[in-house]
Amino acid sequence: MSIAFDPQKRTFKLDTATSSYIIQVYEENYLLNLYYGPWIPESFIDGRQCRRPNASFSPTNPAVGGGFTPDAAPMEYGCNGTGDFRISALAVRNADGNSVTDIRYVGHKIYAGKPEIPGQPSTYVNHESEADTLEIYAEDAVTKVRVTLYYTVFSDCGVMTRRVRVENTSSYSCEIERVFSMCVDLPGMDYDLISLYGRHYKERNLERRPLAHGVQGIESKRGVSGHCQNPFVALAAHNVDEQHGIVYGFNLVYSGNFSALAECDFNGTTRLIMGINPVDFGWTLMPGDSFDSPEAVMVFTEDGLGEMSRIFHRFYNSNLIRGRWKTEKRPLLINSWEAAFFDFDTEKLVAFAKTAKELGIEMLVMDDGWFGKRNDDSSSLGDWFVNEKKLTGGLSALIEQVNQEGLKFGIWYEPEMISPDSDLFRAHPDWHVHVKGRTPMLGRSQYVLDVSREDVRDNIWKQMYKVLSENKIDYVKWDFNRNISDAGSAILPAKRQKEFFHRFILGTYDLMNRLVTTFPDILFENCSGGGGRFDPAMLYYSPQIWTSDNTDPIERLYIQFGTSMCYPASTMGAHVSANPRTGYETKGNVAMWGTFGYELDPRNLTEHEIEIVKEQVKNYHKYYDLIHYGDLYRLISPFDNPYRAAWQMVSAEKDRFMVTLVTMRVESYANVILKLQGLDPKKQYRNEATGEIYSGTLLMKAGLILNGVAHGTGESCVLYFTEV
Ligand code: GLA
Repeated sequence: MSIAFDPQKRTFKLDTATSSYIIQVYEENYLLNLYYGPWIPESFIDGRQCRRPNASFSPTNPAVGGGFTPDAAPMEYGCNGTGDFRISALAVRNADGNSVTDIRYVGHKIYAGKPEIPGQPSTYVNHESEADTLEIYAEDAVTKVRVTLYYTVFSDCGVMTRRVRVENTSSYSCEIERVFSMCVDLPGMDYDLISLYGRHYKERNLERRPLAHGVQGIESKRGVSGHCQNPFVALAAHNVDEQHGIVYGFNLVYSGNFSALAECDFNGTTRLIMGINPVDFGWTLMPGDSFDSPEAVMVFTEDGLGEMSRIFHRFYNSNLIRGRWKTEKRPLLINSWEAAFFDFDTEKLVAFAKTAKELGIEMLVMDDGWFGKRNDDSSSLGDWFVNEKKLTGGLSALIEQVNQEGLKFGIWYEPEMISPDSDLFRAHPDWHVHVKGRTPMLGRSQYVLDVSREDVRDNIWKQMYKVLSENKIDYVKWDFNRNISDAGSAILPAKRQKEFFHRFILGTYDLMNRLVTTFPDILFENCSGGGGRFDPAMLYYSPQIWTSDNTDPIERLYIQFGTSMCYPASTMGAHVSANPRTGYETKGNVAMWGTFGYELDPRNLTEHEIEIVKEQVKNYHKYYDLIHYGDLYRLISPFDNPYRAAWQMVSAEKDRFMVTLVTMRVESYANVILKLQGLDPKKQYRNEATGEIYSGTLLMKAGLILNGVAHGTGESCVLYFTEV
């Protein structure tokens, strides 16, 4: 068991192979966090309970000896209004109208395995022995609010997950004002906060800043996780690099408004909380009701950012992504969007399929523009029936012809949206997200559909079901092309309008769940104006996500390096497009770090380009496993180096690897020595192109010398090595 309770010391010890986490049930049943860090044998540490009388006018609890104050103690789950003035994880407004909250330990349970969260995505166990779960029960003696703190330890993966359930066991209603999924109190504040900021077309840039006194952090209020901040943060010692140093990584399995906040206090300690954004959130609990927070995934390592990422990658590949396409080889696709935008018909799509087939491509995806009367982005979202003016003879006639060419067929949807110019809007003018008396803002000429409502979801699902069940569809791309303003639902009472954002995302989960359970064979790719909803919750439903609308291969380096902080290559949609920034070799070499595909009119390729594409297709098949499931080593990051980027994929057995180098700008000298990582020092590796043999030791210590290789702007190379 990776979780143990010591009844004498009243401590819980949660161990992964490399980390320990200790909780103490202290005097008066306060729950304290004694330790989170590298694995240690002890299950108790004295002295961290921090009795500091009147630390800074901090109120003390006279029932606890030594002037104990929650303000200076490492609280396991900091609550609002009872002497802990730091950012709180929980605040519940009770029947008396105040939100003073104080939970104390009342019991616990430890068991093998991991329970699901009703109606929400979460990581899972493949078999019970893979993880152990601790439930700690804590109660507010005054308000009768009962909290369950869930901890699951995936010992071999080096991962711990946390979440919370809040129950109202009183006979009055109460309102949750904030409920974070996790809270950690670390001694010291010598950390950098690492996060991923961006915008549409420039997602997930790496940002690193030293913690300072006060509150700092990231959030989304956009109704989705969004392009602008990702629900990922890390706390890293100042000296951390890819290979060395202490890192705590946190990722929220949630696609709605989130918040990740760190506070450094007067004692120089750090609290980090992550969960649903309390801004515009509230949840009424009637007597007997309960509320489940989303799950937070926590990774600890002493081996730098690279190892943190690899732990996330392996864990998500094995314990988050589900279904047939978790392990089955995914078809190599061509997507119609950048090839034709809205300007296509059956004939053009079949022509794409025919040429694509000659290149070795396996699936045609028909993107936006096939339904209602949609010829641009101004209409028809919500009218999910085929536009027969474009697709003569209907969808099945098109699919038949595409299948005859030997290709599978995929289709595009944007289920949570509605165009004001649509039959659906004319029939149901109150189905969009809006508030009374205001005309809502438009985004890309569209409103958001209120999928917090079951009747709305049922309508959309019925329409989708008809198309998906009547046609041979192998793939669905699910888009979401605006953020949510004017948040309100026509059917929620005033008191519950603050529940809208969370109810909306639960509605999205419900729709996605219907898709993956009714059509388990469909390969499902998520998208939101590129990577505006690239988060673990979406990966629970769809094994891959379109990483960005930006297909410029140099810009993609930044986007893919940033995304790889916690998301594996198997999840990152990466396509070669007609973007002219570099030649096809580099476009392919960059896209080969993800779920590879094409997004162009294949009929426009020159003879020379066709040869390059055919070679890429061959390599896609040959190195599929290495790319999708290998270990990533970021060798040179574009965020650190203006001239070049390099990365490596190494098989789990360390018997194969590939290394990619891209030159973004020419430096005055062209000699590159790449010190490789993650190899077996004792193994000998052969360069598949040249036949040269090197030891793993040489490649890691002396480095791979790439004199004059790929040294022009926009040039690149990929080298494949196999164990001799
Ligand atoms: C979004 C997606 C694109 C494409 C368009 C269609 O922007 O990211 O890939 O599907 O929508 O409108």
